[in-house]
Amino acid sequence: MSKKYRFILFVISILLLLVISICINKSILLSISQFWLSSGILLLILLSLIDQPHFSKDANIFVNAITASISLLLVAPKDQDWIFWLFVSFVGYLVISSYALFWIRNNPLNEELKIVQLFSRLNRILGKPETLFSSFFLWGAIKQFGLQSNEIIPLFWYWLIFMIFNMPQVAEIIESFLSVQATKTDKNILGMIFGVQSKNTFLVKLFPVNQRPVLRLFDFVEFKYSVEERNYVRRGMVFDIYWLNEEQWIKVLTNKEIEVMLDSIPKNELIRYDAVYKISESNSTEYLKRFLGIISENSIIGKIRFIYNSRVKAMEGQLIEVSFNDETVLYQILEGTTKVEQLENKNQFGYIMGEAIQLGTWNKERCQFEQYGWVPPINTPVYTVSDIEDKKLEKGELLVGYIPDTKYPVILNMDLAITHHMAILGVTGTGKSVFSRNLIRQYLTYNDTKIIIVDFTGEYAKVFSDIKTTNIINSTDETTIYEKFEIVNNELEKFPNQQNKELIKTSNNEITTILNRSLNTFISDQSQMVSIIELPDVSNSQNILEYTKRLFKELFKIAKDNKGRMKKICIVLEEAHTVVPEWNFSGESNKASQNVLNSIAQIALQGRKYNVGLLVIAQRTANVSKTILTQCNTVVSFQEYDKTSVDFLSNYFGDEMASVLPTLRFRRAIAAGKAFKSNVPMIFEVPNIEEKWKL
Ligand SMILES: Nc1ncnc2c1ncn2[C@@H]1O[C@H](COP(=O)(O)OP(=O)(O)OP(=O)(O)O)[C@@H](O)[C@H]1O
Ligand SMILES: [Mg+2]
Repeated sequence: MSKKYRFILFVISILLLLVISICINKSILLSISQFWLSSGILLLILLSLIDQPHFSKDANIFVNAITASISLLLVAPKDQDWIFWLFVSFVGYLVISSYALFWIRNNPLNEELKIVQLFSRLNRILGKPETLFSSFFLWGAIKQFGLQSNEIIPLFWYWLIFMIFNMPQVAEIIESFLSVQATKTDKNILGMIFGVQSKNTFLVKLFPVNQRPVLRLFDFVEFKYSVEERNYVRRGMVFDIYWLNEEQWIKVLTNKEIEVMLDSIPKNELIRYDAVYKISESNSTEYLKRFLGIISENSIIGKIRFIYNSRVKAMEGQLIEVSFNDETVLYQILEGTTKVEQLENKNQFGYIMGEAIQLGTWNKERCQFEQYGWVPPINTPVYTVSDIEDKKLEKGELLVGYIPDTKYPVILNMDLAITHHMAILGVTGTGKSVFSRNLIRQYLTYNDTKIIIVDFTGEYAKVFSDIKTTNIINSTDETTIYEKFEIVNNELEKFPNQQNKELIKTSNNEITTILNRSLNTFISDQSQMVSIIELPDVSNSQNILEYTKRLFKELFKIAKDNKGRMKKICIVLEEAHTVVPEWNFSGESNKASQNVLNSIAQIALQGRKYNVGLLVIAQRTANVSKTILTQCNTVVSFQEYDKTSVDFLSNYFGDEMASVLPTLRFRRAIAAGKAFKSNVPMIFEVPNIEEKWKL
């Protein structure tokens, strides 16, 4: 019996009883003093409809008995016949026994002694308002008017009708009849709520197909759930449809966003409890354009798992958002796994579990992600990200790309990238060189950096033919240097006692002087910004390595002497394994290449203090010197297959992120490290770069 029903019955009964009593007595005052009326109004109606509508407990019986004894006081002495005294003794019994039971009982009734159960159950029937006061009401009325009188007839009918309408079964029938009458939308009922999975996901058993409207995945529904706050109409979306025991079931997801979105469609307040109605007018695709799925179990702060069920495509690298605790936290999809859940009776339920790693909340002002320290609750909806506005870059910042398919920028701080060294990695053809050349062009427009490119592939000279490049060492000087190397080598090949030590010394000094002069000119001349060191026309590879070593040693010395007074210098090592190989990959020219490595390692280790930095470009991490690579505080890695590289990079990116390296698409890379504005590793997309000078 609903509260509403009881209230209506209460008002009607009181009014009706007052009307009857006024008709009989012609006076309201007279009526109130009469026993049958007071027991009728105060006790029968009040107690049975308001205080104990469902059943009476021992304490209720006690109160009923006390109330009854007070109403018996209204009976005039002349009316106190043997029935009256029977009532008095019965009420006395109820008062004593219910009070005693109230004290004796400690346990649920069916765990009590049999005798206690007997008395308690008996009292509940005899002492409930309907029994107690029906007898008072009828006895009082008969006593006052007599069985044969005219007055007794309306009172008797009144009592009978009240008792009938007060029966729970009758109430239920009337209530459901009224609600069916009231709702013309019953044809929209899909099924009944069967359970709740969490506070916002409901399990619904559908009616057979011919008894309900057609239902599709992602349709919107409304319902009132009987367990929660009365009369609240919830709105939700059909998130899943499946079969179980030859019956169709759906899962309904409810949340604030759905409620807000469907706000313009008036709620149907007259729907029945626990019946789920289809909202036919809704064709809202706005929500569905962004809805991707719901958070599933085993999500952790750094990585969420979600059940993917959507019309929207999901992809590795895609940015998604989850709102909880008044924050919107962004995650990047890394993995999708198909799963099968075993239901009862061999029924199965197949779905896709997505995994996404936390990037954090987006700080609009600072244009960066900030880690968020908590995990979203289960069943929270997951959406694709909404657009953000472009923001102007600050001085010294460079946009290297965007999070795939979004406007979330990936921003590099050029100063940090140069001075704290950067590595660009990836298998052949993934776009390392194109990316790096684009980076170099941006460094040049920043106009604060000189670039020295060591490129034995010859690519850079061609592609940079539109910009002015200079040779640090002009060709005559270069020839002289190589000649001096030959002289020194020739001398060194002799027995020590036959070597011309003086000649070796002067030759070496001359080499140093040339290098020093040339480097100083390059550093101080504002018109010289880029220099490319290419494979010279000499056959002795030992000499090339010796030349490279001497050059960088001298450069480091000058930088050290000039501490802070010169422009930044970025040394680009293209195909780094040829210049700074890992020792076990360096082959027969061991000693010479070790020397080059040492001179560059010195820059890697201390260059930061003197404004000299490295840009290391390599295909695999295995054959490049770890002394150099581990000094790179900023890393961009395109696709990598080999385990050694993936393992090495997981130190920078974390295991989860590094595990997607083998499947990265063209122009996509993972960025991490000091120079990136957001210091969480993330997958980003390099824009399409058209190089003017094709190779
Ligand atoms: N951002 C880009 N936009 C457009 N095309 C690109 C981009 N990056 C790379 N490419 C294309 O891919 C080709 C290979 O790129 P790139 O030479 O940079 O590869 P790589 O990683 O340096 O390979 P390798 O290790 O063999 O030198 C380029 O010639 C270019 O056509
Ligand atoms: Mg290349």
